[in-house]
Amino acid sequence: MFVRSLLLTGALIAALVAFCLLGSPEARPPYIQGQNRTALFISNIEHGLSNVHIATATSLLENYPDIEVHYASFSGLGNKLARVSKFAKAKTPAAREITYHEIDGKAYFSILPLSITPPGSAGVAKFASDVQTWISPWSVEEHMSIYNRVGALIDEISPAVVVLDTLVRPAVDSVRDKNWMHAFITPQTVAENFIGDQPYGSMFWKYPALTSGFGFPVPYKNILENIYLNFRFVYAAMLTPQLNAKKAALRERGVKDPINFFNLHRPDIPWITMTTDGVSIPLDVVPVNVTCAGPILLSVAPAHEQDPGLTQWVQRSPTVLIALGSGFKYPLDYAEAMIGAVFDVLSKTDLQVLWKFDKDGDYSDDVLAPLEPFVKTGRLRLSKWLTIDIMSLLESGGIAAFVHHGGSNCFNEGLAAGVPHVVLPLWADLYNFAAIAENVGVGIWACKDTSPNWTAKGISGAILKVTDGGETGISLRQRSKSLGDKLRTGEQGRDIAAREIAKLAYVKKGQGEGP
Ligand SMILES: *[C@@H]1O[C@H](CO)[C@@H](O)[C@H](O)[C@H]1NC(C)=O
Ligand SMILES: *[C@@H]1O[C@H](CO)[C@@H](O)[C@H](O)[C@H]1NC(C)=O
Ligand SMILES: *[C@@H]1O[C@H](CO)[C@@H](O)[C@H](O)[C@H]1NC(C)=O
Repeated sequence: MFVRSLLLTGALIAALVAFCLLGSPEARPPYIQGQNRTALFISNIEHGLSNVHIATATSLLENYPDIEVHYASFSGLGNKLARVSKFAKAKTPAAREITYHEIDGKAYFSILPLSITPPGSAGVAKFASDVQTWISPWSVEEHMSIYNRVGALIDEISPAVVVLDTLVRPAVDSVRDKNWMHAFITPQTVAENFIGDQPYGSMFWKYPALTSGFGFPVPYKNILENIYLNFRFVYAAMLTPQLNAKKAALRERGVKDPINFFNLHRPDIPWITMTTDGVSIPLDVVPVNVTCAGPILLSVAPAHEQDPGLTQWVQRSPTVLIALGSGFKYPLDYAEAMIGAVFDVLSKTDLQVLWKFDKDGDYSDDVLAPLEPFVKTGRLRLSKWLTIDIMSLLESGGIAAFVHHGGSNCFNEGLAAGVPHVVLPLWADLYNFAAIAENVGVGIWACKDTSPNWTAKGISGAILKVTDGGETGISLRQRSKSLGDKLRTGEQGRDIAAREIAKLAYVKKGQGEGP
Protein backbone atom coordinates (compact mmCIF):
# COMPACT_ATOMS: atom_id res chain seq x y z
CA MET A 1 0.00 0.00 0.00
CA PHE A 2 3.10 2.03 0.35
CA VAL A 3 2.95 4.07 -2.78
CA ARG A 4 -0.64 3.71 -3.67
CA SER A 5 -0.94 7.32 -4.63
CA LEU A 6 2.03 7.18 -6.89
CA LEU A 7 0.78 4.09 -8.53
CA LEU A 8 -2.70 5.39 -8.84
CA THR A 9 -1.46 7.99 -11.18
CA GLY A 10 2.10 8.07 -12.19
CA ALA A 11 1.32 11.62 -13.14
CA LEU A 12 3.67 13.14 -10.65
CA ILE A 13 6.53 11.35 -12.19
CA ALA A 14 5.16 11.85 -15.65
CA ALA A 15 5.72 15.53 -15.33
CA LEU A 16 9.16 15.10 -13.85
CA VAL A 17 10.15 13.00 -16.78
CA ALA A 18 8.61 15.48 -19.16
CA PHE A 19 11.15 17.95 -17.81
CA CYS A 20 13.95 15.81 -19.16
CA LEU A 21 12.47 13.93 -22.09
CA LEU A 22 10.03 16.37 -23.62
CA GLY A 23 8.40 13.73 -25.81
CA SER A 24 5.68 14.71 -28.26
CA PRO A 25 2.19 13.25 -27.76
CA GLU A 26 1.66 10.01 -29.64
CA ALA A 27 -0.73 10.09 -32.55
CA ARG A 28 -3.25 7.29 -32.35
CA PRO A 29 -6.48 6.39 -34.17
CA PRO A 30 -9.76 7.24 -32.41
CA TYR A 31 -10.59 4.90 -29.54
CA ILE A 32 -12.96 2.04 -30.29
CA GLN A 33 -16.40 2.32 -28.68
CA GLY A 34 -18.44 -0.88 -28.72
CA GLN A 35 -22.15 -1.37 -28.11
CA ASN A 36 -24.08 1.79 -27.37
CA ARG A 37 -25.23 2.12 -23.73
CA THR A 38 -22.77 -0.44 -22.33
CA ALA A 39 -20.11 0.15 -19.65
CA LEU A 40 -17.58 -2.31 -18.25
CA PHE A 41 -15.96 -1.54 -14.88
CA ILE A 42 -12.74 -3.31 -13.88
CA SER A 43 -11.35 -2.83 -10.36
CA ASN A 44 -9.56 -4.49 -7.49
CA ILE A 45 -11.70 -5.99 -4.74
CA GLU A 46 -10.39 -4.03 -1.72
CA HIS A 47 -12.91 -1.48 -0.39
CA GLY A 48 -10.39 1.34 -0.32
CA LEU A 49 -9.61 0.82 -4.00
CA SER A 50 -12.97 -0.23 -5.43
CA ASN A 51 -15.66 1.68 -3.53
CA VAL A 52 -15.38 4.61 -5.93
CA HIS A 53 -16.03 2.29 -8.88
CA ILE A 54 -18.90 0.48 -7.21
CA ALA A 55 -20.47 3.78 -6.13
CA THR A 56 -20.29 5.11 -9.68
CA ALA A 57 -21.64 1.88 -11.16
CA THR A 58 -24.58 2.05 -8.75
CA SER A 59 -25.33 5.64 -9.67
CA LEU A 60 -25.38 4.59 -13.34
CA LEU A 61 -27.99 1.93 -12.51
CA GLU A 62 -30.15 4.50 -10.74
CA ASN A 63 -29.82 7.47 -13.06
CA TYR A 64 -29.21 5.88 -16.47
CA PRO A 65 -31.20 2.66 -16.34
CA ASP A 66 -30.88 2.20 -20.12
CA ILE A 67 -27.11 1.67 -19.71
CA GLU A 68 -26.04 -1.94 -19.26
CA VAL A 69 -23.44 -2.14 -16.50
CA HIS A 70 -20.85 -4.93 -16.40
CA TYR A 71 -18.26 -5.35 -13.68
CA ALA A 72 -15.13 -7.52 -13.70
CA SER A 73 -12.97 -8.18 -10.65
CA PHE A 74 -11.26 -10.91 -8.68
CA SER A 75 -13.05 -13.37 -6.46
CA GLY A 76 -14.87 -11.76 -3.56
CA LEU A 77 -16.82 -8.85 -5.00
CA GLY A 78 -19.89 -10.64 -6.35
CA ASN A 79 -22.00 -10.45 -3.18
CA LYS A 80 -21.30 -6.80 -2.61
CA LEU A 81 -22.30 -5.96 -6.19
CA ALA A 82 -25.52 -7.94 -5.81
CA ARG A 83 -26.26 -6.04 -2.59
CA VAL A 84 -25.70 -2.57 -4.07
CA SER A 85 -27.70 -3.52 -7.19
CA LYS A 86 -30.59 -4.52 -4.97
CA PHE A 87 -30.43 -1.25 -3.08
CA ALA A 88 -30.34 0.70 -6.36
CA LYS A 89 -33.45 -1.15 -7.52
CA ALA A 90 -35.23 -0.27 -4.29
CA LYS A 91 -34.62 3.40 -5.08
CA THR A 92 -35.16 3.23 -8.86
CA PRO A 93 -37.45 0.40 -9.93
CA ALA A 94 -36.19 0.63 -13.53
CA ALA A 95 -32.60 -0.07 -12.40
CA ARG A 96 -31.10 -3.29 -13.74
CA GLU A 97 -28.58 -5.51 -12.01
CA ILE A 98 -24.85 -5.25 -12.48
CA THR A 99 -23.57 -8.22 -14.50
CA TYR A 100 -20.56 -9.63 -12.69
CA HIS A 101 -17.60 -11.31 -14.39
CA GLU A 102 -15.01 -12.95 -12.19
CA ILE A 103 -11.38 -12.68 -13.20
CA ASP A 104 -9.16 -15.57 -12.18
CA GLY A 105 -6.28 -13.99 -10.27
CA LYS A 106 -5.00 -12.97 -6.87
CA ALA A 107 -6.31 -9.89 -5.07
CA TYR A 108 -3.90 -6.95 -4.99
CA PHE A 109 -3.31 -6.84 -1.25
CA SER A 110 -3.18 -10.60 -0.92
CA ILE A 111 0.13 -10.39 -2.78
CA LEU A 112 1.49 -7.24 -1.17
CA PRO A 113 2.19 -7.63 2.52
CA LEU A 114 1.16 -4.79 4.76
CA SER A 115 4.21 -2.75 5.58
CA ILE A 116 4.19 -0.08 8.22
CA THR A 117 6.65 2.62 7.20
CA PRO A 118 7.63 6.04 8.53
CA PRO A 119 7.01 9.23 6.56
CA GLY A 120 9.65 11.01 4.49
CA SER A 121 13.12 9.84 3.63
CA ALA A 122 13.13 7.27 6.44
CA GLY A 123 10.46 5.30 4.60
CA VAL A 124 11.34 5.85 0.97
CA ALA A 125 13.94 3.07 0.65
CA LYS A 126 11.29 0.37 0.94
CA PHE A 127 9.43 1.83 -2.01
CA ALA A 128 12.53 2.00 -4.11
CA SER A 129 13.31 -1.67 -3.60
CA ASP A 130 9.76 -2.89 -4.31
CA VAL A 131 8.64 -0.61 -7.08
CA GLN A 132 7.85 -3.33 -9.63
CA THR A 133 5.61 -5.04 -7.07
CA TRP A 134 3.67 -1.91 -6.23
CA ILE A 135 3.01 -0.99 -9.82
CA SER A 136 1.71 -4.47 -10.59
CA PRO A 137 2.05 -7.15 -7.92
CA TRP A 138 1.25 -9.99 -10.33
CA SER A 139 3.99 -12.14 -11.81
CA VAL A 140 4.58 -12.00 -15.55
CA GLU A 141 2.47 -15.13 -16.06
CA GLU A 142 -0.34 -13.83 -13.85
CA HIS A 143 -0.18 -10.44 -15.53
CA MET A 144 -0.61 -12.10 -18.93
CA SER A 145 -3.47 -14.24 -17.71
CA ILE A 146 -5.41 -11.20 -16.43
CA TYR A 147 -4.46 -9.23 -19.55
CA ASN A 148 -5.85 -11.96 -21.80
CA ARG A 149 -9.01 -12.44 -19.76
CA VAL A 150 -9.74 -8.71 -19.88
CA GLY A 151 -9.13 -8.73 -23.64
CA ALA A 152 -11.60 -11.60 -24.05
CA LEU A 153 -14.19 -9.83 -21.88
CA ILE A 154 -13.94 -6.71 -23.99
CA ASP A 155 -14.43 -8.75 -27.16
CA GLU A 156 -17.42 -10.50 -25.63
CA ILE A 157 -19.17 -7.49 -24.06
CA SER A 158 -17.95 -4.89 -26.53
CA PRO A 159 -18.57 -1.99 -24.13
CA ALA A 160 -18.80 1.63 -25.23
CA VAL A 161 -16.42 2.47 -22.39
CA VAL A 162 -14.19 0.59 -19.95
CA VAL A 163 -13.87 2.18 -16.51
CA LEU A 164 -10.49 1.38 -14.98
CA ASP A 165 -8.75 1.22 -11.63
CA THR A 166 -5.15 2.42 -12.07
CA LEU A 167 -4.01 -0.42 -9.82
CA VAL A 168 -5.21 -3.21 -12.12
CA ARG A 169 -2.31 -2.68 -14.49
CA PRO A 170 -2.87 -5.79 -16.61
CA ALA A 171 -6.33 -4.42 -17.45
CA VAL A 172 -4.92 -0.97 -18.24
CA ASP A 173 -2.34 -2.56 -20.54
CA SER A 174 -4.97 -4.70 -22.25
CA VAL A 175 -7.46 -1.88 -22.83
CA ARG A 176 -4.75 0.38 -24.20
CA ASP A 177 -3.30 -2.27 -26.49
CA LYS A 178 -6.79 -2.70 -27.92
CA ASN A 179 -7.13 1.09 -28.22
CA TRP A 180 -10.54 0.87 -26.52
CA MET A 181 -12.31 3.91 -25.04
CA HIS A 182 -11.71 4.11 -21.30
CA ALA A 183 -11.77 6.31 -18.21
CA PHE A 184 -10.17 6.18 -14.78
CA ILE A 185 -11.72 6.63 -11.37
CA THR A 186 -9.34 6.93 -8.42
CA PRO A 187 -9.91 7.36 -4.70
CA GLN A 188 -7.06 9.87 -4.54
CA THR A 189 -7.11 13.63 -5.00
CA VAL A 190 -5.49 15.76 -7.68
CA ALA A 191 -2.83 16.83 -5.19
CA GLU A 192 -1.41 13.32 -5.11
CA ASN A 193 -1.84 12.90 -8.82
CA PHE A 194 -0.87 16.08 -10.61
CA ILE A 195 1.68 17.96 -8.55
CA GLY A 196 4.10 17.33 -11.37
CA ASP A 197 1.99 19.35 -13.80
CA GLN A 198 2.33 22.54 -11.79
CA PRO A 199 4.30 25.45 -13.27
CA TYR A 200 7.73 26.62 -12.12
CA GLY A 201 8.74 23.20 -10.81
CA SER A 202 6.67 24.01 -7.76
CA MET A 203 6.36 20.33 -6.93
CA PHE A 204 9.85 20.65 -5.50
CA TRP A 205 9.47 23.67 -3.29
CA LYS A 206 5.76 24.23 -2.75
CA TYR A 207 3.88 20.92 -2.83
CA PRO A 208 4.60 18.14 -0.33
CA ALA A 209 6.07 15.06 -1.97
CA LEU A 210 3.93 11.98 -1.70
CA THR A 211 4.67 10.02 1.44
CA SER A 212 6.29 13.09 3.03
CA GLY A 213 3.47 14.25 5.29
CA PHE A 214 4.89 17.79 5.01
CA GLY A 215 2.41 20.62 5.31
CA PHE A 216 1.40 22.89 2.45
CA PRO A 217 3.24 24.90 1.31
CA VAL A 218 6.32 22.85 2.16
CA PRO A 219 8.10 24.54 5.08
CA TYR A 220 11.56 25.92 4.19
CA LYS A 221 13.29 23.46 6.45
CA ASN A 222 11.80 20.52 4.52
CA ILE A 223 12.45 21.67 0.97
CA LEU A 224 15.70 19.75 0.50
CA GLU A 225 14.15 16.54 1.72
CA ASN A 226 11.16 17.21 -0.54
CA ILE A 227 13.43 17.45 -3.57
CA TYR A 228 15.28 14.32 -2.54
CA LEU A 229 12.03 12.34 -2.19
CA ASN A 230 10.83 13.38 -5.64
CA PHE A 231 14.07 12.32 -7.29
CA ARG A 232 14.18 9.08 -5.39
CA PHE A 233 10.72 8.17 -6.72
CA VAL A 234 11.64 8.95 -10.30
CA TYR A 235 14.83 7.00 -10.04
CA ALA A 236 12.99 3.99 -8.64
CA ALA A 237 10.21 4.13 -11.21
CA MET A 238 12.59 4.46 -14.16
CA LEU A 239 15.73 2.62 -13.31
CA THR A 240 14.92 -0.20 -10.92
CA PRO A 241 16.40 -3.28 -12.67
CA GLN A 242 13.62 -5.67 -11.56
CA LEU A 243 11.01 -3.31 -12.97
CA ASN A 244 12.77 -3.08 -16.29
CA ALA A 245 13.25 -6.85 -16.44
CA LYS A 246 9.50 -7.33 -15.85
CA LYS A 247 8.71 -4.82 -18.58
CA ALA A 248 11.01 -6.61 -21.03
CA ALA A 249 9.42 -9.98 -20.25
CA LEU A 250 5.93 -8.57 -20.81
CA ARG A 251 6.97 -6.88 -24.02
CA GLU A 252 8.31 -10.18 -25.28
CA ARG A 253 4.85 -11.66 -24.73
CA GLY A 254 3.30 -8.99 -26.89
CA VAL A 255 2.27 -6.24 -24.46
CA LYS A 256 3.02 -2.99 -26.28
CA ASP A 257 3.78 -0.62 -23.41
CA PRO A 258 3.69 -2.69 -20.21
CA ILE A 259 3.39 -1.27 -16.69
CA ASN A 260 4.44 2.16 -17.84
CA PHE A 261 4.45 4.41 -14.85
CA PHE A 262 4.56 7.66 -16.70
CA ASN A 263 1.63 8.04 -19.04
CA LEU A 264 -1.51 7.03 -17.20
CA HIS A 265 -3.24 10.35 -17.62
CA ARG A 266 -4.05 11.31 -21.22
CA PRO A 267 -5.89 14.50 -22.13
CA ASP A 268 -8.52 12.56 -24.10
CA ILE A 269 -9.18 10.08 -21.29
CA PRO A 270 -11.45 11.19 -18.43
CA TRP A 271 -9.86 10.98 -14.99
CA ILE A 272 -12.23 11.22 -12.04
CA THR A 273 -10.94 11.88 -8.52
CA MET A 274 -12.30 12.36 -5.00
CA THR A 275 -11.08 15.93 -4.74
CA THR A 276 -13.14 18.40 -2.72
CA ASP A 277 -12.59 22.09 -3.24
CA GLY A 278 -11.07 23.65 -0.15
CA VAL A 279 -10.18 20.29 1.36
CA SER A 280 -7.30 19.07 -0.74
CA ILE A 281 -4.13 20.99 -1.44
CA PRO A 282 -4.98 23.65 -4.05
CA LEU A 283 -3.32 23.17 -7.44
CA ASP A 284 -2.53 26.05 -9.80
CA VAL A 285 -3.34 23.90 -12.81
CA VAL A 286 -5.72 20.96 -13.08
CA PRO A 287 -5.01 19.04 -16.33
CA VAL A 288 -7.74 18.65 -18.97
CA ASN A 289 -10.39 15.99 -18.54
CA VAL A 290 -9.77 15.68 -14.80
CA THR A 291 -12.98 15.83 -12.78
CA CYS A 292 -12.93 16.74 -9.08
CA ALA A 293 -16.05 14.93 -7.93
CA GLY A 294 -15.68 15.28 -4.15
CA PRO A 295 -16.42 12.20 -2.04
CA ILE A 296 -17.56 9.30 -4.29
CA LEU A 297 -19.30 7.13 -1.74
CA LEU A 298 -21.43 4.03 -1.72
CA SER A 299 -25.09 4.53 -1.16
CA VAL A 300 -26.19 1.71 1.11
CA ALA A 301 -29.04 0.94 3.46
CA PRO A 302 -29.29 3.11 6.60
CA ALA A 303 -27.71 1.78 9.80
CA HIS A 304 -30.97 0.77 11.48
CA GLU A 305 -31.84 -1.48 8.54
CA GLN A 306 -28.43 -3.17 8.66
CA ASP A 307 -28.28 -3.83 12.41
CA PRO A 308 -31.00 -2.25 14.58
CA GLY A 309 -29.40 -3.36 17.86
CA LEU A 310 -26.03 -1.83 17.16
CA THR A 311 -27.65 1.34 15.81
CA GLN A 312 -29.64 1.83 19.01
CA TRP A 313 -26.51 1.33 21.06
CA VAL A 314 -24.53 3.85 19.00
CA GLN A 315 -27.29 6.43 19.33
CA ARG A 316 -27.56 5.95 23.09
CA SER A 317 -24.49 8.01 23.90
CA PRO A 318 -21.69 9.71 21.91
CA THR A 319 -19.50 6.96 20.48
CA VAL A 320 -15.92 6.86 19.24
CA LEU A 321 -15.59 4.65 16.16
CA ILE A 322 -12.17 3.05 15.72
CA ALA A 323 -11.80 1.34 12.33
CA LEU A 324 -8.44 1.32 10.60
CA GLY A 325 -9.16 0.19 7.07
CA SER A 326 -9.92 -3.26 5.79
CA GLY A 327 -6.30 -4.30 5.35
CA PHE A 328 -4.97 -3.44 8.80
CA LYS A 329 -4.55 -5.95 11.61
CA TYR A 330 -3.02 -5.04 14.96
CA PRO A 331 0.51 -6.21 15.75
CA LEU A 332 0.95 -6.65 19.51
CA ASP A 333 2.57 -3.28 20.23
CA TYR A 334 -0.14 -1.46 18.26
CA ALA A 335 -2.85 -3.39 20.11
CA GLU A 336 -1.28 -2.47 23.45
CA ALA A 337 -1.17 1.22 22.61
CA MET A 338 -4.80 1.21 21.48
CA ILE A 339 -5.93 -0.74 24.54
CA GLY A 340 -4.24 1.84 26.75
CA ALA A 341 -5.90 4.66 24.84
CA VAL A 342 -9.37 3.09 24.97
CA PHE A 343 -8.94 2.47 28.70
CA ASP A 344 -7.96 6.07 29.24
CA VAL A 345 -10.87 7.48 27.21
CA LEU A 346 -13.46 5.25 28.88
CA SER A 347 -12.10 6.03 32.36
CA LYS A 348 -12.12 9.76 31.88
CA THR A 349 -15.37 10.32 29.95
CA ASP A 350 -18.91 9.09 29.38
CA LEU A 351 -18.12 8.17 25.79
CA GLN A 352 -18.70 4.73 24.33
CA VAL A 353 -16.22 3.01 22.02
CA LEU A 354 -16.89 0.79 19.01
CA TRP A 355 -13.61 -0.80 18.01
CA LYS A 356 -13.00 -2.97 14.94
CA PHE A 357 -10.14 -5.09 16.21
CA ASP A 358 -8.31 -7.98 14.58
CA LYS A 359 -4.98 -9.40 15.67
CA ASP A 360 -1.89 -9.67 13.53
CA GLY A 361 0.06 -12.57 14.99
CA ASP A 362 -1.23 -15.02 17.58
CA TYR A 363 -0.71 -13.26 20.88
CA SER A 364 -3.06 -14.02 23.75
CA ASP A 365 -6.40 -12.28 24.29
CA ASP A 366 -5.16 -11.58 27.82
CA VAL A 367 -3.87 -8.23 26.57
CA LEU A 368 -7.51 -7.15 26.45
CA ALA A 369 -8.06 -7.85 30.16
CA PRO A 370 -7.97 -4.18 31.29
CA LEU A 371 -10.94 -3.49 29.02
CA GLU A 372 -13.14 -6.31 30.39
CA PRO A 373 -15.07 -4.10 32.85
CA PHE A 374 -16.10 -1.73 30.05
CA VAL A 375 -17.26 -4.58 27.86
CA LYS A 376 -19.35 -5.85 30.80
CA THR A 377 -21.02 -2.49 31.42
CA GLY A 378 -21.73 -2.20 27.72
CA ARG A 379 -19.66 0.90 27.02
CA LEU A 380 -17.20 -0.88 24.78
CA ARG A 381 -17.94 -3.11 21.82
CA LEU A 382 -15.11 -4.98 20.14
CA SER A 383 -15.48 -6.97 16.96
CA LYS A 384 -13.46 -8.33 14.08
CA TRP A 385 -15.76 -6.76 11.56
CA LEU A 386 -18.61 -4.30 11.62
CA THR A 387 -22.17 -5.36 10.89
CA ILE A 388 -22.97 -1.91 9.50
CA ASP A 389 -21.17 -0.14 6.64
CA ILE A 390 -18.95 2.59 8.03
CA MET A 391 -20.71 5.30 6.02
CA SER A 392 -24.08 4.28 7.43
CA LEU A 393 -22.65 4.21 10.94
CA LEU A 394 -21.21 7.69 10.52
CA GLU A 395 -24.53 8.96 9.16
CA SER A 396 -26.47 7.45 12.07
CA GLY A 397 -25.65 10.54 14.11
CA GLY A 398 -24.13 8.77 17.11
CA ILE A 399 -20.45 8.94 16.19
CA ALA A 400 -18.49 11.68 17.97
CA ALA A 401 -15.08 10.93 16.46
CA PHE A 402 -13.80 8.62 13.73
CA VAL A 403 -10.38 7.09 14.39
CA HIS A 404 -8.93 5.77 11.12
CA HIS A 405 -5.67 5.26 9.28
CA GLY A 406 -5.96 8.07 6.74
CA GLY A 407 -7.07 6.04 3.73
CA SER A 408 -8.74 8.26 1.15
CA ASN A 409 -11.98 6.33 1.38
CA CYS A 410 -12.23 6.60 5.19
CA PHE A 411 -11.20 10.24 5.06
CA ASN A 412 -13.93 11.05 2.55
CA GLU A 413 -16.56 9.11 4.45
CA GLY A 414 -15.81 11.07 7.61
CA LEU A 415 -15.75 14.29 5.65
CA ALA A 416 -19.14 13.76 4.02
CA ALA A 417 -20.70 12.62 7.29
CA GLY A 418 -19.35 15.71 9.08
CA VAL A 419 -17.61 13.64 11.77
CA PRO A 420 -14.21 14.85 13.04
CA HIS A 421 -11.19 12.63 12.42
CA VAL A 422 -8.41 11.22 14.55
CA VAL A 423 -5.88 10.00 11.97
CA LEU A 424 -3.23 7.38 12.71
CA PRO A 425 -1.30 7.09 9.44
CA LEU A 426 0.78 3.95 9.03
CA TRP A 427 2.35 4.02 5.63
CA ALA A 428 3.34 6.33 2.89
CA ASP A 429 0.33 7.79 1.14
CA LEU A 430 -1.61 8.05 4.38
CA TYR A 431 0.55 10.81 5.83
CA ASN A 432 -0.75 13.35 3.39
CA PHE A 433 -4.36 12.74 4.39
CA ALA A 434 -3.36 13.13 8.04
CA ALA A 435 -1.74 16.44 7.14
CA ILE A 436 -4.79 17.57 5.14
CA ALA A 437 -7.16 16.76 8.02
CA GLU A 438 -5.10 19.09 10.21
CA ASN A 439 -4.72 21.80 7.54
CA VAL A 440 -8.42 21.91 6.88
CA GLY A 441 -9.29 21.82 10.56
CA VAL A 442 -11.42 18.68 10.58
CA GLY A 443 -9.16 16.38 12.53
CA ILE A 444 -5.99 15.60 14.42
CA TRP A 445 -2.94 13.63 13.27
CA ALA A 446 -2.44 11.58 16.42
CA CYS A 447 1.04 10.48 17.53
CA LYS A 448 2.54 12.74 14.90
CA ASP A 449 5.96 12.89 16.55
CA THR A 450 6.27 9.11 16.67
CA SER A 451 4.45 8.10 13.45
CA PRO A 452 4.07 5.34 12.43
CA ASN A 453 4.54 4.27 16.07
CA TRP A 454 1.72 4.82 18.53
CA THR A 455 1.53 5.67 22.21
CA ALA A 456 -1.59 5.22 24.32
CA LYS A 457 -1.28 8.79 25.48
CA GLY A 458 -0.92 10.15 21.96
CA ILE A 459 -4.09 8.41 20.81
CA SER A 460 -6.25 9.12 23.85
CA GLY A 461 -5.03 12.72 23.96
CA ALA A 462 -6.22 13.23 20.40
CA ILE A 463 -9.59 11.55 21.02
CA LEU A 464 -10.17 13.64 24.14
CA LYS A 465 -9.21 16.81 22.36
CA VAL A 466 -11.70 16.14 19.56
CA THR A 467 -14.55 15.21 21.89
CA ASP A 468 -14.14 17.47 24.95
CA GLY A 469 -15.64 20.91 25.41
CA GLY A 470 -12.36 22.74 24.71
CA GLU A 471 -11.83 25.31 22.02
CA THR A 472 -10.01 22.96 19.64
CA GLY A 473 -12.69 20.30 19.92
CA ILE A 474 -15.51 22.74 19.31
CA SER A 475 -13.80 24.21 16.29
CA LEU A 476 -13.01 20.76 14.81
CA ARG A 477 -16.59 19.65 15.27
CA GLN A 478 -18.05 22.83 13.79
CA ARG A 479 -15.78 22.80 10.79
CA SER A 480 -16.47 19.11 10.16
CA LYS A 481 -20.18 19.62 10.45
CA SER A 482 -20.35 22.62 8.15
CA LEU A 483 -18.24 20.87 5.51
CA GLY A 484 -20.34 17.72 5.82
CA ASP A 485 -23.58 19.69 5.50
CA LYS A 486 -22.25 21.40 2.39
CA LEU A 487 -21.14 18.13 0.82
CA ARG A 488 -24.40 16.36 1.50
CA THR A 489 -26.57 19.10 0.04
CA GLY A 490 -24.52 19.54 -3.15
CA GLU A 491 -24.55 17.12 -6.08
CA GLN A 492 -23.16 13.77 -4.92
CA GLY A 493 -19.73 12.67 -6.13
CA ARG A 494 -21.00 9.33 -7.36
CA ASP A 495 -23.57 11.12 -9.55
CA ILE A 496 -20.93 13.48 -10.95
CA ALA A 497 -18.72 10.50 -11.75
CA ALA A 498 -21.60 8.59 -13.31
CA ARG A 499 -22.45 11.53 -15.54
CA GLU A 500 -18.89 11.56 -16.90
CA ILE A 501 -19.04 7.83 -17.60
CA ALA A 502 -22.52 8.11 -19.15
CA LYS A 503 -21.19 10.67 -21.63
CA LEU A 504 -18.97 7.93 -23.03
CA ALA A 505 -21.42 5.05 -22.60
CA TYR A 506 -23.83 6.82 -24.94
CA VAL A 507 -22.01 6.57 -28.24
CA LYS A 508 -22.40 9.75 -30.25
CA LYS A 509 -23.90 9.46 -33.73
CA GLY A 510 -21.19 9.36 -36.33
CA GLN A 511 -18.63 8.09 -33.87
CA GLY A 512 -19.50 4.63 -35.05
CA GLU A 513 -19.95 1.65 -32.84
CA GLY A 514 -17.03 -0.73 -32.80
CA PRO A 515 -16.98 -4.42 -33.65
C1 LIG B 1 -12.12 14.27 -22.67
O1 LIG B 1 -12.14 12.95 -23.20
C2 LIG B 1 -13.24 12.68 -24.04
C3 LIG B 1 -13.13 11.24 -24.48
O2 LIG B 1 -12.01 10.98 -25.26
C4 LIG B 1 -13.24 13.62 -25.23
O3 LIG B 1 -14.39 13.40 -26.01
C5 LIG B 1 -13.23 15.05 -24.74
O4 LIG B 1 -13.11 15.93 -25.82
C6 LIG B 1 -12.07 15.28 -23.78
N1 LIG B 1 -12.18 16.62 -23.21
C7 LIG B 1 -11.27 17.55 -23.43
C8 LIG B 1 -11.52 18.86 -22.76
O5 LIG B 1 -10.28 17.36 -24.11
C1 LIG C 1 9.33 3.29 16.07
O1 LIG C 1 9.60 2.03 16.65
C2 LIG C 1 10.71 1.37 16.07
C3 LIG C 1 10.80 -0.04 16.65
O2 LIG C 1 10.49 -0.05 18.00
C4 LIG C 1 11.98 2.22 16.34
O3 LIG C 1 13.09 1.60 15.75
C5 LIG C 1 11.77 3.59 15.70
O4 LIG C 1 12.87 4.44 15.98
C6 LIG C 1 10.50 4.25 16.21
N1 LIG C 1 10.26 5.47 15.46
C7 LIG C 1 9.95 6.64 16.01
C8 LIG C 1 9.77 7.79 15.08
O5 LIG C 1 9.79 6.78 17.19
C1 LIG D 1 -26.77 5.71 -28.46
O1 LIG D 1 -27.89 5.82 -27.61
C2 LIG D 1 -28.30 7.14 -27.36
C3 LIG D 1 -29.41 7.11 -26.33
O2 LIG D 1 -30.34 6.14 -26.62
C4 LIG D 1 -28.72 7.80 -28.66
O3 LIG D 1 -29.09 9.14 -28.43
C5 LIG D 1 -27.55 7.75 -29.63
O4 LIG D 1 -27.91 8.29 -30.88
C6 LIG D 1 -27.07 6.32 -29.81
N1 LIG D 1 -25.87 6.31 -30.63
C7 LIG D 1 -25.80 5.70 -31.80
C8 LIG D 1 -24.46 5.73 -32.48
O5 LIG D 1 -26.73 5.13 -32.27
